[in-house]
Amino acid sequence: MGKPKVFVTRIIPEAGLGKVREACDARVWEGRFPPPREELLEQVRGVDGILSLLNDRMDGAVMDAAGDSLKIVSNYAVGFDNIDVPGATSRGILVGNTPGAVTETTADLAFALLMAAARRLMEGVDFIRAGRWETFEPLVLLGRDVHGAVLGIIGMGRIGRAVARRARGFDMEILYHHPRGETKAGEDVGAKRCGTLDELLEKSDFVSLHVPLNAETRHLIDGAALRKMKKTAVLVNTARGAVVDPEALYEALRDGVIACAALDVTDPEPLPRDHKLMSLPNCLVVPHVGSASVATRERMAVMAAENLIAAVQGDIPKYLVNPEVLPRRR
Ligand code: DGY
Repeated sequence: MGKPKVFVTRIIPEAGLGKVREACDARVWEGRFPPPREELLEQVRGVDGILSLLNDRMDGAVMDAAGDSLKIVSNYAVGFDNIDVPGATSRGILVGNTPGAVTETTADLAFALLMAAARRLMEGVDFIRAGRWETFEPLVLLGRDVHGAVLGIIGMGRIGRAVARRARGFDMEILYHHPRGETKAGEDVGAKRCGTLDELLEKSDFVSLHVPLNAETRHLIDGAALRKMKKTAVLVNTARGAVVDPEALYEALRDGVIACAALDVTDPEPLPRDHKLMSLPNCLVVPHVGSASVATRERMAVMAAENLIAAVQGDIPKYLVNPEVLPRRR
């Protein structure tokens, strides 16, 4: 019997790709951009597994194009909002992801964004580049203190908790809230629970988002939520762009409803460079690099590869989004 056939939608670090090539008959899309839709539907035909990225839409049409041989869609990400999970589940297809791999690295970036926004680092760089650093000035580029400030964490999962641990080192007061009122506690990482989202928004100097994107969290931060925040508040988003209503955010930043936003994720993504959010000095945007350290991207590659290989070889992948499929998997 030949090796299982798989389609890998982009070049990922060799630590994982090498494993896939060794265990499988792998077709790898080598382009920088996701395979165009028609190409994707063609490439997946007859494969046993797909290794996808967060910007590949993995819907029922892709699964059906692959056909009955498809056993797993293994995402190279912890988030899986690009995958129609109920569609996969109803077809008996496993969905894998990379939880844990990105936690600390994403928390590092959330904190870096928080600090950069608080202390206006990008504006400082622009100031020098514009030739404006001519003397020491008591009233120029004044930011906000991070130490002693109140941090509100929305979504106290793995990454939220890792951010809380960092915040403790800065003597911040930490609040948290779960949109769905889940009971997982944050008290052991020094955080205090807010009963409502409004309470967190009203009390926080910094608000950091750590929820998955789903029907409930889409535009969780809309105009009304932004108006609940302090005028001096900073919003940090390293979760998914669509958790924030971009139009409402633009207006809030433009009109001084909140002070500043620091975004690793946007809606749309990528954000066109002439997008109106990019015209605002109080909006700091980086290009979805939360997990972008050498070690973390390698870890993700290995996890995604191992999930894929396990499933196509008939074993149980370690990290499954829909383990309920196991008893009736293909
Ligand atoms: C994820 O894993 O979901 C991040 O957004 C990218 O690493």
